[in-house]
Amino acid sequence: MRIVILPTAEQAATHVAELIARQVQDRPRSVLGLATGGTMEPVYAGLIARHRAGLSFAGVTTFNLDEYVGLGPDHPQSYSHYMRVHLFDHVDIPEANRFVPSGLGAPAHAAQAFEAEIARRGPVDLQLLGLGGNGHIGFNEPGSSLGSRTREKLLSFDTIEANRRFFDTGETVPETAVTMGIGTIREARRIIVLATGARKAAAVRAMAEGPVTAMCPGSILQMHEHVRLVVDTEAAAELALKDHYLRAEQLQSRRDANGPG
Ligand code: GLP
Repeated sequence: MRIVILPTAEQAATHVAELIARQVQDRPRSVLGLATGGTMEPVYAGLIARHRAGLSFAGVTTFNLDEYVGLGPDHPQSYSHYMRVHLFDHVDIPEANRFVPSGLGAPAHAAQAFEAEIARRGPVDLQLLGLGGNGHIGFNEPGSSLGSRTREKLLSFDTIEANRRFFDTGETVPETAVTMGIGTIREARRIIVLATGARKAAAVRAMAEGPVTAMCPGSILQMHEHVRLVVDTEAAAELALKDHYLRAEQLQSRRDANGPG
């Protein structure tokens, strides 16, 4: 796992937006895996800015990680709605190429339809992931099978509490979601995890340096060949080998500056 520590959350998000933009530039027909949550908002703002500066997403296909069960695409707290507000309404990804699991109808059916689309159009070239405070990826809560496929998952109390801030006071946060499985996520060619703020420090340490365990679903990424974890100083605070990761990145930038050969 390559671990990139940047001074601020803003710099971390800018770095991730840059990596996604480069992927689309190099391979305009890329399949991107997208995530939601507060952490991703500045990443999408960065992509919109690059689109306005000329980057086209017209050949791109996107798969979102998850959706709340019971929320239709017009519900302001649905992830479908989030994606329109924060990205889709502002860039040129064709509507027919955008896939978010359906929150309506039978969850098993939504999950199956979503897996079928990934099988048809995948694999995902670049998967963007956030990290829950409890180590979840997508909505794969602690205890999730590390080989799971897209399915309905019960949200933990921690997650319901963490996400309550996005809902109106008195509004019920859905108890379940349809989420891409951990086995599905692992099939992406490259994965970028973005985590910022002190609230994520313990989860960052567990996923990058702890044992590989279903108790911290993100820890399975230690088994993936191409993962880049991008964190700000606050989220990196509990990493035992922080200085080593910083040195490794310094070495990498010296080599990048010297160019090939
Ligand atoms: C949510 C989402 C995840 C997201 C995570 C962190 O519950 N299902 O995809 O990465 O929790 O969210 P935030 O960025 O708001 O901290």
